[in-house]
Amino acid sequence: MNPPRIVERLTPDPDAERRALVAGLVATPAAIPPKYFYDAVGCALYGAICELPEYYPTRTERAIFREHRDAIAQAVGRGRQFVDLGAGDCCKALAWLPYLAPTRYVAVDFAADAIRGALAKMAPEFPDVELTGVVTDFTRGLDLDADLGPGPATFFYPGSSIGNFTPADAREFLRAIRRHCAPRPGSGLLVGVDTKKDKARLDAAYDDAAGVTAAFNRNVLHHVNRLLGSDFRPEAYAHRGCYDEAAGRIEMHLEATSPQTVRLPGATRTFAAGERIHTENSYKYAPREFAAMLSEAGFADVRCWQDPAGDFAVFHAK
Ligand code: AVI
Repeated sequence: MNPPRIVERLTPDPDAERRALVAGLVATPAAIPPKYFYDAVGCALYGAICELPEYYPTRTERAIFREHRDAIAQAVGRGRQFVDLGAGDCCKALAWLPYLAPTRYVAVDFAADAIRGALAKMAPEFPDVELTGVVTDFTRGLDLDADLGPGPATFFYPGSSIGNFTPADAREFLRAIRRHCAPRPGSGLLVGVDTKKDKARLDAAYDDAAGVTAAFNRNVLHHVNRLLGSDFRPEAYAHRGCYDEAAGRIEMHLEATSPQTVRLPGATRTFAAGERIHTENSYKYAPREFAAMLSEAGFADVRCWQDPAGDFAVFHAK
């Protein structure tokens, strides 16, 4: 049994990160990149969102995986390298390993502690699988050449996280994955995508009755306060999460409920009552739209599995 190998590829520049965060906050409209949702509290709240009755994506994807496991496993093939993008605690991938028998498992995430802990737990259970963790922000560029061997690789991107890219960035990301697949015949991508549907259901999924998504959204201001030493009062901002049908996306915002003045490093930002901070987009795709994006990115043999209601789609493409 080999101990897991951890490759640190994040070169954090906290000053540059802080400057970019302040620039987004002083801009009009103001924005905070969604990566700042995921401090420890944000990760726990996101875990709670995934269990909410209104938030169907996680359990629907799980049901598709369960229902179509054999067909998906056959499309993917056994004995590949398995590259888990946004691996987190690695638990979605773990459920696949016995069916896919990968030669190597590569967990990619910016959360170093999460993948370190998960790989250490996996090591005794999967002694024949080479375990690698790559600590990087892959949304800024997918540089895995040094981490992958020459054999075929399956890229795994579940959970509809592809929806948090703009469509242009999603296309670029798919092309980057395809570039890793091209020199490795037998490679492919297994990806989960949330579909366009009734606005009322989408609105409820991102503005649940228990207020968990609201807490998740507001928590970003606590995180920003810690990072910048700013004095946002999170309770003074209302959660807004609703589906824009024309744009095909959920937009999440924090809306000042009364005039607010916030001290930031080197700047003071005032928010009028009703003024919003944009925190996230979550794009939804009709299955034929996403299949076309895969083809445009150079993928072929596109297969799609859905739940009976068509709420979610899992694609495999080579
Ligand atoms: C991580 N991502 C796929 C979630 C989504 O549905 O876009 C993040 C989320 N935001 C609010 N609820 C869930």
